[in-house]
Parts: sequence; structure tokens; C-alpha cells
Amino acid sequence: MTSSQATQVQTLRWCGGQLEMIDQRVLPAEFKYLRYDSAEAVARGIRDMVVRGAPAIGCAAAYGVALEALRLRDAPASQFAGLMERAFEVLAASRPTAVNLFWALQRMRARRDALAARPVAAQADALLAEAHEILAEDIRVNRAMGEHGAALLADGARVLTHCNAGALATAGHGTALGVIRSAVEAGKRISVIADETRPFLQGARLTAWEMVQERIPVTLITDNMAGFLMSRGEIDAVVVGTDRVAANGDVANKIGTYMVAVLAQRHRIPFYVACPISTIDMSIADGAAIPIEERAPEEVTGFRDCRWAADGVSVRNPAFDVTPAELVTALITERGVVRQPNRERLAALTARR
Ligand code: MRU
Repeated sequence: MTSSQATQVQTLRWCGGQLEMIDQRVLPAEFKYLRYDSAEAVARGIRDMVVRGAPAIGCAAAYGVALEALRLRDAPASQFAGLMERAFEVLAASRPTAVNLFWALQRMRARRDALAARPVAAQADALLAEAHEILAEDIRVNRAMGEHGAALLADGARVLTHCNAGALATAGHGTALGVIRSAVEAGKRISVIADETRPFLQGARLTAWEMVQERIPVTLITDNMAGFLMSRGEIDAVVVGTDRVAANGDVANKIGTYMVAVLAQRHRIPFYVACPISTIDMSIADGAAIPIEERAPEEVTGFRDCRWAADGVSVRNPAFDVTPAELVTALITERGVVRQPNRERLAALTARR
């Protein structure tokens, strides 16, 4: 599979009046789609990590709203608004950290409000069209970010990434992996070092799979090996994605990202964050206010059917951490590269059209 073919991986697709999503829990052993027909079912798919990655979660939530509206298309107008409100609530409660979820719900709500006087069936059709547009827009945004970011990577660069910010985490192309894909498409020889990303193994299972599909050279390491490789001069740049960027430039991303950023600073390696504008949350002053999801202890005490930790041990499982803005070399956005992000620069960036 070539690079451009592989970006055809459709994490979410609309098929026969339903939403289909790749079941990311079983990759790479199995590649299969699951079908969704209601907001409730989509919310469960987000919570259970069938779909994950901030932009993909946002797309799924938009389709969740549309599916619910289609289910209710014959409902009396007097009941439609209340039932839709319940759908918005269920979806908003699925995962707390990725702001793209709330961004997409807000956009769908604004569309519904604008059409509130129209017949229910017309509202449902318009909400589906809006979900399709959110999906298509995400790919355009990722391509633009890819182009801006590719210019930052030298020919021959060895790029460390953490978690999966690839096609699977988005509607296509990816954010961090989109930067790598675009650099490869531009003719640069890029190799990837993928942190395995404990405890859910998005790096080992998803990033490695995406890169192997496209024959982009990829080396898998466990998370605790990054410092060693940096100290030996084997990493030239770090590129990661993000779930939410606060107004001052602090970056929430998969647990372990902060550790990588500290190491990168120690070794004077640029630390880049690929960040669509929809991931910037100007309503949150700094990273301390970003809600951090805590997941089930079973993700830490073992994996699938295999348990390795002692019974009775207490466990912490924060799914994300916050990297202070001062450790971020630049944000790569669809509107360009923002070096040393801070409050003023993000305010100017998000105010631009
Ligand atoms: O728990 P996940 O797998 O949803 O976490 C995903 C990440 O942390 C990604 O790096 C982030 O969402 C950016 S995806 C383009």
C-alpha cells in the first residue's frame, strides 16, 4: 500500500443509513467495522474506545446526533427538541478530555437551533449533512496541517511519536502522523519511532500498524526507552497530537506525553504538537483546568484476559497528562505554525478567519 492509498483508511464511514466505525480495540489482529444507529450506541462506542483520538471522537459525536435525529424524524415537533437534548447529554458524557467532542456537539446544536422552525425531517437531513461536512473538513484540516508541519522535518529525520494521532484518530490522514505522511509525500525520508503507549497500547497496536501498512519505516519502543534513544542522538524531533490545548498553550495529550516533552527539552530536541484549531479551548485558562479522564484499573493491572498485578493493589490510571506550554517548540495548525505558543499568540490565531 502506498502512502496516498493508506490514507483511504476510513475510520468512520456512512453506509446504508448507519454509521460504521473501525473497531480499534481489536486492531491489528482483526480489522472490522461495527455499525451504529443511535446516539446512545455511539456514546458507548466512544466510551469503550471502539473509536478514539480527539478529532475522530468529534466526528463520531456529530454522527451520533445525526443518527438520533434520523431515528426521530417521524416524532412530533413538540417532542423532538427534548429527545434530542437527551442525545446531546449522553454523547457529552462519553469521555471528558478531548475538547473536539464538545466542539462538534456545539456545532451540531447551533445547526439544529438555526433550523428549529423547520419540519423535523428537514432538521434531521440537515444534521446529517452537517456531520458529513465535519468529517470532510477534518481531512482538509489534517492535510493543511501536514503541509505546514512537513516543512519542519529535515530529510532523513527520525521522529518520535506518542500514542496514535494518525488516520485512525481522525477522519483521515491524521494530525501528528499526517505531518509525517505529508513529509514522506514531499519526498523526505522519514523514519518513525513509536512509543508503545501504555496502558492501552495505541502506539504498538495502531501507530505501528498504520506505518507498516504504508511502508514508512517504524521502530517500536516501550515508553521507558525514549530517554535512552534521545541520549544516544537517535531522535531528531518529536511530533504528537493533542486532546485539548488551553488558552495559554498548555497541551493535554495521552499519558506519558509530558515525560517525553521533559526529555526532549533536556536533549534539545524540538517538541511539536499537531493541533487543529478545533482542539484549542480558549475558555480554559491553563492546563490545570483541563478535565483528565481516569480509566478502569484493569487497564493497568493487565491486558485483555491476562492479569499480571497482585490482587488487592491500588491503581491510578489517568489517561492524559498536561505538558506546559514552555516545553512546546511549536503548535502545527491548519493556519500555520505557532512557535512558543502563549496566550497572545493563541488569541491572535483563533481570532483569525
Ligand atoms: O485515549 P485516546 O486513544 O483517545 O487518546 C488519543 C490521544 O491522546 C491522541 O494523541 C490525541 O487524541 C490526538 S489524535 C489526533
